[in-house]
Amino acid sequence: MPLSTRTMAVQPSHLTKSYFLPLFILFITSGISTTHAACSKMDQQSLLSSFDIASSSLNWSSNDCCRWEGITCDMAGRVTHLLLPSKRLKGVISPSLGNLTHLTHLYLSHNILSGHLEAGFFLSLGRLQILDLSYNLLSGELPLSPPPSCIRVVDLSSNQFNGKTPSSFLQRAWNLSNLNVSNNLLKGQIPSFKCSYSPFVRSLDFSHNDFSGIIPLGLGNCSKLELFRAGFNNLLGTLPSDIHKARALEEVSLPSNKLSGTIDENIVNLTNLIILDLNFNQLSGALPLHIGKLSRLKLIILHFNNLESYLPTSLMNCSSLTELNLGYNQFEGDLSVLNFSKLTKLIKLDLKNNHFTGPLPISVYSCKSLIALRLSSNDLEGQIQHEILSLKSLSFLSLSYNRLSNVTGAMKILKDCKSLGVLILTNNFLGEEMPDGDLMVGSSGFQNLYIIGLSSCQLTGKVPVWLSKLEKLKGLDLSFNRLTGPIPGWLGTLPSLSFINLQSNFISGEFPKELCRLQALRSEKAATQTRHGVIELPVYYQSVNGSVTRLQVKYLSNMPTLIALRNNSLSGNIPRDIGQLQLLQELNIGFNKFSGNIPHQISNLRKLEILDLSRNHLSGEIPASLSSLSFLSSFSVAYNNLQGQIPLGTQLQGFNATAFEGNPGLCGSPLPNKCPKKSPGDSDTTKGREDAHDSGNGIPWLQISVSLGFIVGFWGVCGPLALSRSWRYAYFEFFSSVVDRFVR
Ligand SMILES: *[C@@H]1O[C@H](CO)[C@@H](O)[C@H](O)[C@H]1NC(C)=O
Ligand SMILES: *[C@@H]1O[C@H](CO)[C@@H](O)[C@H](O)[C@H]1NC(C)=O
Ligand SMILES: *[C@@H]1O[C@H](CO)[C@@H](O)[C@H](O)[C@H]1NC(C)=O
Ligand SMILES: *[C@@H]1O[C@H](CO)[C@@H](O)[C@H](O)[C@H]1NC(C)=O
Ligand SMILES: *[C@@H]1O[C@H](CO)[C@@H](O)[C@H](O)[C@H]1NC(C)=O
Ligand SMILES: *[C@@H]1O[C@H](CO)[C@@H](O)[C@H](O)[C@H]1NC(C)=O
Ligand SMILES: *[C@@H]1O[C@H](CO)[C@@H](O)[C@H](O)[C@H]1NC(C)=O
Repeated sequence: MPLSTRTMAVQPSHLTKSYFLPLFILFITSGISTTHAACSKMDQQSLLSSFDIASSSLNWSSNDCCRWEGITCDMAGRVTHLLLPSKRLKGVISPSLGNLTHLTHLYLSHNILSGHLEAGFFLSLGRLQILDLSYNLLSGELPLSPPPSCIRVVDLSSNQFNGKTPSSFLQRAWNLSNLNVSNNLLKGQIPSFKCSYSPFVRSLDFSHNDFSGIIPLGLGNCSKLELFRAGFNNLLGTLPSDIHKARALEEVSLPSNKLSGTIDENIVNLTNLIILDLNFNQLSGALPLHIGKLSRLKLIILHFNNLESYLPTSLMNCSSLTELNLGYNQFEGDLSVLNFSKLTKLIKLDLKNNHFTGPLPISVYSCKSLIALRLSSNDLEGQIQHEILSLKSLSFLSLSYNRLSNVTGAMKILKDCKSLGVLILTNNFLGEEMPDGDLMVGSSGFQNLYIIGLSSCQLTGKVPVWLSKLEKLKGLDLSFNRLTGPIPGWLGTLPSLSFINLQSNFISGEFPKELCRLQALRSEKAATQTRHGVIELPVYYQSVNGSVTRLQVKYLSNMPTLIALRNNSLSGNIPRDIGQLQLLQELNIGFNKFSGNIPHQISNLRKLEILDLSRNHLSGEIPASLSSLSFLSSFSVAYNNLQGQIPLGTQLQGFNATAFEGNPGLCGSPLPNKCPKKSPGDSDTTKGREDAHDSGNGIPWLQISVSLGFIVGFWGVCGPLALSRSWRYAYFEFFSSVVDRFVR
C-alpha cells in the first residue's frame, strides 16, 4: 500500500533525536503488511460516517476499505492505522470513530477538524497507542476518559483545547513516552505526571498555554525524560527541586514564565543537558559555580532575569556552546579576565545590559564561529582591537553604551570586517571627531554593511564621505552628534538607503533635492531588492503602556522607512519632489528653519504614518489634500506661520489642537478660535477648497456640515485612530527600539 510521506514535517531541532520516531517506524513497517482479509464491513461503515470525505482530498471509493488511502488493517480486516495528515478533513470527529476498536495508530494532524472530543472519546479505543490530532481547530476540554494504558504518544498540540487538564488524565498511561499539548488554551496546574506510573516518558511539552501555579514535583522520577518544555505560560515558584534527578534531560525550556528563585547548583548533575532556556523569568542569584560540568550544553538562554554576580570561570569550559545569551541581568565583573578561547563553536554571544567592566575581552576574538556579538550597555572601556578581524563570520556587532574611545581607529579596523552587516557603536567615543577623509582610500571597506549606528557620541565634523561607498547601506543613524555642514546630496544615490536619522545635530543648508531620488523609498521593486534578512540578534522591547508586554523584532523588513532631520538648522523650502518618496513612513523635519509653503505633494506619501513639520517658518495654508494620508497617526505643524482654515471634514480634525498651535493665522477645528466669516471678495483665497459651508450663508448648513464633518471625522478618523493607537505606540516603541537597536 503506497503511503505518502509528503506531509511529514520533521521539525528542525537542536536535538539530534526525533521525537516523531514512531511515525518513521510506521512508514517502514506498513509497506510490508500486504495480505489481509477484506475490510470489516463495520469498520468500513464507521470510517465513512466518521469523516466528511466529500470535502476532503480522499478518494475512498473502492470496496475494500483496507486498500483506501491512509488505512491499514490487521489480518482479520480490522482497521488498525489511520494515517490521514493534511487531508483537508473538516467538521467534528464523529463518535462513530470509537467503533474502530482495533485502532492502534490515529494520525489526523494538519486538518481542519473542529468541535469537542466526546467525554468518552477514549473509552472504546482501548488499543490506541499513538494519537496525533495536532494542528486542527479542536476545542473544549480534554476528554474525561483518560487514554488507554497502552498509549505511547499523545500529540494534541496546536489546537484550541481549553479548561483544566484532569489530573487523572495521565495516570493510567504506563507506557507514555511523548506528550505534547503545546499551543492550546489549557489552564490550571500542569498535570502531575508520576513517572513511577509512566517510567518511559521521554518528552513533555506544555508550552504556549495558560498554565499557572507551580511546576509539580515528580519529574525527578522520570529517568528517561529527555525534554521538558513549559515556556510561555504563567508558571510561578522555583524550578522544581527534583529536576536534577532527571538525569536524561537534554532540554529544559521554560521561557516567559514568572519563575523565581535561583538556578540550583545541583543542576550540574544534568550532564546530558544540551539546551537550558529560562529567559524572561524572575530568576535571581549567580550561575551555578560548576556549570562547566555541563560539557554538552549548546544553548544557554537566560536573558531577562535578575541573575547577578560574576560569571563562573567554569562557564568557559562549556566548549559545545553555540549560543550564550545572558542579556538583561545584573552580572558584573571584569570581562577581560575570562578566557573565551575554548568556545570555538560559539555563534552568538549576547551580554547586553549587565554591569560588566574592563576592556573588550581579547580572547573573544578566538571564538572563530562568532556571527553576532553584543556587549552593549555595560561599562566596557578601551579600544576595538585589531584582532577582531579574525572573526571572519562576524555579521552583527553592537558595543554601544560603553566607554570605548578612538572612533577613527575603530572604523579603520572594522572596515575590513568583510562580513559585517550591522554595526552599532552608539554612545561611545564622546566628543571625538567623525572619521573622514582617507578612511576608505585604496580599499573597499564595509562592503556588506547595511546598518550603521553612531548616534549619541557627540562627534564633531561632517556627514562623512566614505558613507557614499556603502552600496548596501539601508539604515543610517548619526543622530545626537555635533555634526555640521550640509546633508550631502550623494546620500540620494545609495540604492538601498531607506532609514536616515540625522536628528539633533548642527546640520545646515537645504533639504537636498537628491534625497527625493532615493530608490528604496520610491519603488516597491527597488525596496524588495534590498536585504530582508533576519537580524542575527532579535531586539526586545517593552510595550509603552507600562505592562510587561514584551515584543521581539527579528526581521530587517520590519524596519520603518524614515527621514528624520529634526532639531538641526536646515532652511529653504521643502522640495516638491518629496512627493516621489512614496514608501516613506515617517518624515520628521521639525525644529529647523524651513520656510515657504507645505508642498501639497506630501499627500502623495500614502504610507506616511508620522509627519512632523513643527517649529519651522512654514507659511501659507495647510493643503486640503493632506487628508488623503489615511495611515497618518501622528501629525504636527505647530509653531509655524501657517494661515487660514484647517481643512474641514478631514482626518486632520482628529488630532489634538496642540498639533496646530502656535500658528497665529490658523483657525477652525480643532483649534478653539473660529475662522472669520468670509466676505464674497475673499473667494480667491479659498479656491480649490470645497467646504460646504462656504457656499451658503444659512446657519443650518454650517451646523450640518460641521456635525457631518464630526461624524465622518469620528468614524472615519478617530475610529481608525483609536484602533491604531496601541499599534501606533507600538510603532513608536518599535521605532525607538530600532533606534534602540542602533543605539545599544
Ligand atoms: C478514485 O479511485 C478509483 C480507483 O480506486 C478511480 O477509478 C477513480 O477515478 C478515482 N477518482 C478520482 C476522482 O480520482
Ligand atoms: C507497554 O509496553 C511494553 C513493551 O512494548 C508491552 O509489553 C506492554 O504490554 C505495554 N503495556 C501496556 C499497558 O500496554
Ligand atoms: C509540540 O508541537 C508543536 C507544534 O504543535 C511543535 O512545534 C513542538 O516542537 C512539539 N514539541 C515536541 C517536543 O516535539
Ligand atoms: C575546565 O576544564 C579543564 C580541563 O577539563 C579543567 O582542568 C579545569 O579545572 C576546568 N575549569 C573549571 C573552572 O572548571
Ligand atoms: C587609534 O587606533 C588606531 C588603530 O588601532 C591606532 O593606530 C591609533 O594609535 C589609535 N589612536 C589613539 C589615540 O590611541
Ligand atoms: C537638539 O540637538 C542638540 C545637538 O545634538 C542637542 O544637544 C539637544 O538636546 C537637542 N534638542 C532636542 C530638543 O532634542
Ligand atoms: C498594554 O498593551 C498590551 C499589548 O498591546 C495589552 O495586552 C495590555 O492590555 C495593555 N495594558 C494596559 C494596562 O493597557
